[in-house]
Amino acid sequence: MKVQLKVDDRFKVPAELVAVGVYENENGTDREHMPEAYQTLLSDAMARGEFEGKLLQTLTALPVPGVLTRRVVFIGLGKQSELTANVVRKVFGQLAQISEKMKVQSVAAALPQGSFSEKDAALAATEGWVLGSWKFAGYHQEPVDRHVADLYLTNIGHVESAQEGVDVGLVVANAQNYTRDLGFRPSNKLYPELLAEEAVDAGRRHGFSVEVFDEMRLKELGMEALLGVGQGSVYPPRLVLMRYDAHADKTLALVGKGITFDSGGISLKPSAGMEEMKYDMLGAAAVLGAMCAIAETKPSVNVIGLMAIAQNMPSGSAYKPGDVVRAFNGKTIEITNTDAEGRVALSDAVSYAAHLRPNWIVETSTLTGAVLVVLGHEATGLVADDDKLAEQVIEAGDRVGERIWRLPIYPEYKELYKSKVADIKNSPGRDAGTITGGMIIREFAGGIPFAHLDIAGTAWTKEGPLNAVDGATGVMVRTFVELAHMLA
Ligand code: BES
Ligand code: ZN
Ligand code: MN
Repeated sequence: MKVQLKVDDRFKVPAELVAVGVYENENGTDREHMPEAYQTLLSDAMARGEFEGKLLQTLTALPVPGVLTRRVVFIGLGKQSELTANVVRKVFGQLAQISEKMKVQSVAAALPQGSFSEKDAALAATEGWVLGSWKFAGYHQEPVDRHVADLYLTNIGHVESAQEGVDVGLVVANAQNYTRDLGFRPSNKLYPELLAEEAVDAGRRHGFSVEVFDEMRLKELGMEALLGVGQGSVYPPRLVLMRYDAHADKTLALVGKGITFDSGGISLKPSAGMEEMKYDMLGAAAVLGAMCAIAETKPSVNVIGLMAIAQNMPSGSAYKPGDVVRAFNGKTIEITNTDAEGRVALSDAVSYAAHLRPNWIVETSTLTGAVLVVLGHEATGLVADDDKLAEQVIEAGDRVGERIWRLPIYPEYKELYKSKVADIKNSPGRDAGTITGGMIIREFAGGIPFAHLDIAGTAWTKEGPLNAVDGATGVMVRTFVELAHMLA
């Protein structure tokens, strides 16, 4: 799969399939250089009301000997006034899926023009293409045949700056696909030691340093919380510390929940849908993916990545309701529900991040089912104590097409997680569940500006323009990369 830039018109490039973007009601559609027969075809389809140019609507035309010489796909761009780089990303994701279904080897498409630079359009188009093309390889005896077409981005004005967009787009989208790949892997193929190994390999490939804390080290450091979550599993927990050093004076810490499987532990989950809990490490995987892209795109801010990795299982050695564990910063947690394990595992990772004194701590986790009740699959929930950081996180998400919605942190909510036997209890009950989850983790941030992103509703979803099949989305990779560049 290649993404190549061409100054020529889309109809002059020798690609098997030509994509033509059409605005709603055709206002603003570029018909220049479009051969007569295709012009007629488009006008007729629109006159018949078969195709309106609504966002992501498609109309494919097969070649007709002597008349239509090329295969063409018309893709709706929606209203011209609403065209953003985020729309461009979706359109190219959709295009990738169409070309996969049509089994073509090469596709030509022009970049839509709007209130964004050609470079940003090339970046978004490349990301859309690479994300929309991706599917998890799987474990079938016969490998699933997946051929991905080459994309020609045509009608380019300034090849050099557009190429910069393509290069960044490839790095970021490949990093996001890496996160998705880790998410799809089941927990018998990706248990804590292997996820930690992934980070070591990725660090070598992309040029960031990686340190793995094994269970002995966790014991030495006094990380009873992460150890507690992992102690029911035959696979011991890990804390992974990654560093991208820009020799800058500011440091961003990214922390992710890496529960390779969440059975609920002794507070066992119901069996229906439990297989989805292999995705409970997608916060950590997003941090890892972001580190890869950050190390390649080199913002001038230092970035620390931390992954709190464990498998939450019931067994004779598992932690139990009523247990009290002491986190790295000395605070104690009463376990009232072993299924609220994410905040427990993260208490050690976030305390450790705080101990390194970064300027900001941004943590992400598939933390609560409650966030799905509030926001569904459409947005990530944000719990933050610093308005400036909260705004920057939301802005970063906005720029890259990942919706983030902030929830309040009223001091009264603290009452909900008070414990009689420890500083905090881990499971305060249903009320304000997403907020108390975030606020509990914040207790370990040592007063450093803190943002918690609950991706339980966004880390895996149904198929869409950027995910060809149901499953891991790699959400937050793009936001984190953007945020690092914004804070630099
Ligand atoms: N990993 C789950 C949260 C989750 C649920 C993610 C559904 C995606 C879909 C988390 O560890 C969990 O079990 N949370 C509990 C917390 C409760 C016990 C306070 C929940 O949401 O029910
Ligand atoms: Zn969990
Ligand atoms: Mn759980």
